[in-house]
Amino acid sequence: MSTSHSLWYKDAIFYEVSPRAFKDANGDGMGDFQGLTEKLDYIADLGVNCIWLLPMYPSPLRDDGYDIADYYNIHPQLGNLDDFKTFIAEAKKRNLRVIADLVLNHTSDQHMWFQEARKGPDNPYHDYYVWSDDIQKYSGARIIFTDTERSNWTWDESAKRFYWHRFFSHQPDLNFDNPKVHEEMYKVFRFWMDLGLDGFRADAVPYLYEREGTNCENLPETHDFLKQLRAYMDEHYPEAILLGEANQWPEDVLPYFGDGDGDEFHMSFHFPIMPRLYMGIRQEDRGSLEWIINRTPAIPANCQWAIFLRNHDELTLEMVTEEERAFMVREYAPNPRMMCNVGIRRRLFPLVENDRRQAELLHGLLLSLPGSPVLYYGDEIGMGDNIYLPDRFGVRTPMQWNDNRNAGFSNAKPSQLYVPVIDDPGPYHYQSVNVEAAQENQTSFYNWLVNLIEHRERFKAFGRGDITFLHPANRKIFTYLRRYENEVVLVVANLSRSPQPVELDLSEYQGYQVMEMTSNVPFPVVGAASYQLSMSPYSFFWFYLVKP
Ligand code: GLC
Repeated sequence: MSTSHSLWYKDAIFYEVSPRAFKDANGDGMGDFQGLTEKLDYIADLGVNCIWLLPMYPSPLRDDGYDIADYYNIHPQLGNLDDFKTFIAEAKKRNLRVIADLVLNHTSDQHMWFQEARKGPDNPYHDYYVWSDDIQKYSGARIIFTDTERSNWTWDESAKRFYWHRFFSHQPDLNFDNPKVHEEMYKVFRFWMDLGLDGFRADAVPYLYEREGTNCENLPETHDFLKQLRAYMDEHYPEAILLGEANQWPEDVLPYFGDGDGDEFHMSFHFPIMPRLYMGIRQEDRGSLEWIINRTPAIPANCQWAIFLRNHDELTLEMVTEEERAFMVREYAPNPRMMCNVGIRRRLFPLVENDRRQAELLHGLLLSLPGSPVLYYGDEIGMGDNIYLPDRFGVRTPMQWNDNRNAGFSNAKPSQLYVPVIDDPGPYHYQSVNVEAAQENQTSFYNWLVNLIEHRERFKAFGRGDITFLHPANRKIFTYLRRYENEVVLVVANLSRSPQPVELDLSEYQGYQVMEMTSNVPFPVVGAASYQLSMSPYSFFWFYLVKP
């Protein structure tokens, strides 16, 4: 294990961006690296520290690039390797790090390896994939893309066998029992790291191996492979990070941080906390949030959770109980079009019915709970979605820059765009929701968020501190201390639509001065009695406590 790491990721805010969706520089209707490079100042000005790039490789784009046809190039519509190198160099100039998606589990069926593999068992590539003559094999594995797939096996007419896939049937799983597959993946890893990446977001990691009699998730063999990859990273790229995507319960994610000494992933997404943030504000109760955080085991000191409100996928409801799922669907997906697989394909602002207070509250929590926040492009300006687009494209529409044609995203004909911009009449139309308008308006959500991010930067407690819940009698108030070295940060949030009183037990801090963080306004000194606050609907405070 490397001990020299600066642990930059523990204090970082990540910004997830689709190079297809951000800015089209060549007018072909799809974003590209040249466009993304032009917009780096915008990203830097947000105050984020690391960009997470969605897959940029050549691909038939049947899973928005997660179906890779060639690991060693840039999708031609996104540019070429030189454009990519320029992008990395320009990002570095602005102190922005960049991690990219690494898809280990599967390829596109268009990948040369699969095309060869299909020729039959004698082909040297056949064993790159997982084949069977019997579809009863690995029957313990669940189906993930329940909207489109009926089985994890698909018949291949050419090979005359079934091949294994955990996602779309056009995404055959690689066979990690084949050492050649490991070699190939190390090569891919080196290729991109040597181009200057700061690490990877490793896609769909629970599914690398299959074993009979298991659910084929989180297997020991999978961890062995990932640990070796990590050791390799530590040796050759000591400042880089691996961020794992394992949509699992916290206790099942724990092993992805290694065996107690943090020798596997530096970071893993915390999936189950996300739906509970949305649940909290509709139930007006802190219970499920406290429950999931209390259930989250401690992780090694050099590791970090990645937390998020939304991303490029559906708002997944896999990590909730049946009852909670029904509640979420009732509250947040009243129209069946809003559902996709086991989740909800809507963006943040539509989910909260465009209520600025709820959006602020959710960000106030996201940016102060344990972990490094990952923001999703467009949410910072309150972008809407389009539930009538297929699959998850409704939350992947073009970034809205201004009120010009195509929201300033592209000079192409509107009909040429990879998906249409949001232009339904109403609150989300790009003529009102766009970067230019958000920047001009001093009181916009965007400017509010940029300001909040600046304040978060002042306190290491946000990224590195522990968390202690206060338990005021009023359960509509979610409140906690984040402490790190000499810093004491107090967060108080009202999950309710109505004003709420709260009495906090801060006896431990008697005599401390309570300071509101974003304004430096002094609040009363903590006395012997309980500390009383009045909270307006969906409001929150970030305080820091100063020793007398
Ligand atoms: C991950 C991605 C998702 C993709 C899937 C298959 O879950 O987030 O977008 O469809 O992997 O690659």
